Amino acid sequence: MPKITIIGAGAVGATAAQRIAEKELGDVVLTDIVEGLPQGKALDLMESGPLFGYDSKVTGTNDYKDIEGSDVVVITAGIARKPGMTREDLLKINTKIITDVSNNIKRYAPGSVVITVTNPLDIMTYVTLKTTGFEPGHVFGMSGVLDSGRFATFIAMELGCSVRDINAMVLGGHGDTMVPMPRFTTVTGVPITELMSQSTIDRLVERTVNGGAEIVNLLKTGSAFYAPSAAVTNMVEAVVKDTKRILPVCAYLNGEYGRKDIYLGVPVKIGRRGVEEIVELKLTKEEEKALGKSADAVKSGIASLNI
Ligand code: LAC
Repeated sequence: MPKITIIGAGAVGATAAQRIAEKELGDVVLTDIVEGLPQGKALDLMESGPLFGYDSKVTGTNDYKDIEGSDVVVITAGIARKPGMTREDLLKINTKIITDVSNNIKRYAPGSVVITVTNPLDIMTYVTLKTTGFEPGHVFGMSGVLDSGRFATFIAMELGCSVRDINAMVLGGHGDTMVPMPRFTTVTGVPITELMSQSTIDRLVERTVNGGAEIVNLLKTGSAFYAPSAAVTNMVEAVVKDTKRILPVCAYLNGEYGRKDIYLGVPVKIGRRGVEEIVELKLTKEEEKALGKSADAVKSGIASLNI
């Protein structure tokens, strides 16, 4: 069984542990700094195994030594958004947390593939790369899969069709400048640009861009976790099963899309070695401009870190 570590036993981390165990993608190590929290949630998940019929082992720990030998490490540790906060508001506090977490991953799980989930996502993924010193393909972030899932949800609601037939694509940074791509978003191969008016598409794009905030405003005391943990699970599955799926993820660019030394949401091939290929799409002038604006926003966030 692959060993999958989840750092941070909050709502996203614990729900990801549940989904990964239920799918038997591997044995799960849930870690957190709060004593008893990961142990309690892990034991609770173990006790669900006989009821749901899975043999994945789930263990909880406060000791980074227990992540040794992990194939995949998912970082969810950090502070989540409260109403009115932007993802960037989280920058300072989460940079500190991610730096500490990444130093421990470097020490105890140097052979792992790392998936960052903590916000502000693109910048935290950059911090993870620079702190671990891992190969860029081994460090990537969860954003586009979640944002595409939201876009697909709204399209299915609008068309009254099955979500199964929708293949949505959202690129760019995981923030207000994200770039939903209607031209590359299809229902059984038919681009939504042929199925909906421009004003309908604009409305769904807008709702997608504000998708995280919509949930925060409803929950009031936290941010989304069901869809984020589902997105993480899809990505972990692509790695441990070496599926070579093409998914939009926050990946390190070294010249692709005309950008260097930056993380940005782009379509990539995911397998056992993490990001195995970056897929470069031919973009229209407007799409290029929107992605460029998103890249500039990420770049200025990175610049503000002084690393
Ligand atoms: C979201 C937050 C977690 O998109 O970024 O739900």
